Amino acid sequence: MTKYGPIKEALKVDQSFAKPVARQPGEALIRIHSSSVNPVDWKILEGHAKDLFPIEKFPHVLGMDLCGTIESFSDSDTASNAKAEFDLKVGDSVFAMLRKGGLADYCVVDVKHLVKMPHNLSYMEAGTMPLVCVTSYQALFQVGKLTKGQKVLILGGSAATGLAGVQLAKRAGAQVAVTCSARNAALVKSLGADTIIDYRSNDWAESLKGQDYDLVFDAVGDENAYIRSAQVLKRGGHFVTIIGSKGDDTSAPESKGIEFNWWLAQPNRTHLEDIKKAVEEGTLKPKIHAVYPLTDLHRAMEENKTGHAVGKIAITMV
Ligand SMILES: NC(=O)c1ccc[n+]([C@@H]2O[C@H](COP(=O)([O-])OP(=O)(O)OC[C@H]3O[C@@H](n4cnc5c(N)ncnc54)[C@H](OP(=O)(O)O)[C@@H]3O)[C@@H](O)[C@H]2O)c1
Repeated sequence: MTKYGPIKEALKVDQSFAKPVARQPGEALIRIHSSSVNPVDWKILEGHAKDLFPIEKFPHVLGMDLCGTIESFSDSDTASNAKAEFDLKVGDSVFAMLRKGGLADYCVVDVKHLVKMPHNLSYMEAGTMPLVCVTSYQALFQVGKLTKGQKVLILGGSAATGLAGVQLAKRAGAQVAVTCSARNAALVKSLGADTIIDYRSNDWAESLKGQDYDLVFDAVGDENAYIRSAQVLKRGGHFVTIIGSKGDDTSAPESKGIEFNWWLAQPNRTHLEDIKKAVEEGTLKPKIHAVYPLTDLHRAMEENKTGHAVGKIAITMV
């Protein structure tokens, strides 16, 4: 991105950019094969996320996902540490969640964020997984404290984060309810959702009233979701949103001891390792909505911005 502004004006695909160099100890240079578009990319571009992701200088390379191969390490110490500590060497195929830089041909990454990509995915597929899977993993288990046998309601079951969330929650042995539109019901059911509520014709808070859920994970920013969650959650239950706001009169959830948790996903190697394991054991599958070459990034971002993609928009570099 060259400045803040609309996708058409502020985003420039410039493949004459100089290849970066891994200079600092602990860094690796990655030849990127694939990445993906996330809503955060156009939100940063359009200036909606200045507080969370301030940009130090332009041009700024967007992209919070990466799948590629390790081309080099910054120095021999980094190379031998990476080999010893993380079993990584030049030529390995890896994936990672980043804060920036994934929508490019090359990127310099801290080796501690790199995990060998799942052996049963293509580069294209693996490049769509890190951000949404890490987000759902942390929202469900780290913040939401979901455990086997518990009940979770995922608002936005067909969102890319929601699709990952359904699969990860089922893997953990939870009972899963979701909201989605009728056209996506068969998909979320095939991934294991036990209860499906069509958000266009039903009110989830009324449908699940008094059912003592353990966790509500809001992946769409549903209006007053925290306030309404008091009808669905048990006393002391968890509410986690990755996009919504608290609302005005929060006395109902507060009187039941339900905390409001707004969560921003953090790159985490251990979590990504477990996500890789889930993919390899077949309990977590990517869902690809569309694939675009990097040169078509404008179109890919416009499509993501509609808010109606079903799964990930992959970006391929080679
Ligand atoms: N805080 C964090 O760390 C973090 C991390 C990742 C993402 N996010 C945020 O989380 C949100 C979701 O991201 P994403 O990548 O998962 O989005 P996404 O895949 O682009 O979401 C699109 C999907 O959401 C569904 N949807 C839209 N409105 C809905 C509603 N009211 N109820 C239920 N489903 C609805 C759409 O289905 P229909 O077409 O059927 O409506 C579509 O399938 C974004 O705002 C993103 O910025 C935050």
